[in-house]
Amino acid sequence: MLKLQQEIRMVCHNKENVTEEDLKKMTWLKAVIKETLRLHPPAPLLVPRESSEETQINGYDVPKGTKVLINAWAINRDPKFGQNPEEFIPERFMGDTSVDFRGNHFQLIPFGGGRRICPGINFAISNIEMMIATILFHFNWELPCGIIRDEFDMSDAPGLSVRRNEKLYLVPREVDHTI
Ligand code: HEM
Repeated sequence: MLKLQQEIRMVCHNKENVTEEDLKKMTWLKAVIKETLRLHPPAPLLVPRESSEETQINGYDVPKGTKVLINAWAINRDPKFGQNPEEFIPERFMGDTSVDFRGNHFQLIPFGGGRRICPGINFAISNIEMMIATILFHFNWELPCGIIRDEFDMSDAPGLSVRRNEKLYLVPREVDHTI
């Protein structure tokens, strides 16, 4: 979070608010959002599919009309595609990696892929980027009294759409950018 705040406050130095132009320069913000969607895809099983014809996959016969559930949550965490897949490491999306979530890289599919890919990607990402950048620009965030970082529950509640297991309580401290 501190690294992200540094980036946002450097890009928006002497400004009152974050603008869309500013977001283009925030590479760490984009990496943090990708990494968050990798570890916590809101629709972990995507939308169910049905096989349109009989086929074979890895030696298994798949009859026509089979319901197919794609475990994007597990695919995003497959050790084949990166080191320490259970850990939050946005650096994996920095540098020369071009892996994105637009359905071209099957190791990262929080928005699905193919013809049924989420049509709201651009709307979702612009909103998430602006919202995160704005709240981190204007506030410092602390954990409530008595909660320590290492014990903070980051688990997901199971379901077709996923949310946090525990409600998120944070304490905002307003930052005076004029100082
Ligand atoms: C972080 C935000 C979002 C995530 C992670 C997300 C994820 C997904 C996923 C995984 C699917 C299924 C894709 C597949 O099975 O291949 C989907 C479908 C869909 N999403 Fe999103 N979505 C998000 C935001 C939005 C927004 C903002 C809108 C609309 C404004 C939207 C509209 C839709 C629609 C209409 C479908 C159904 C597409 C179809 O079945 O043809 N989504 N989304």
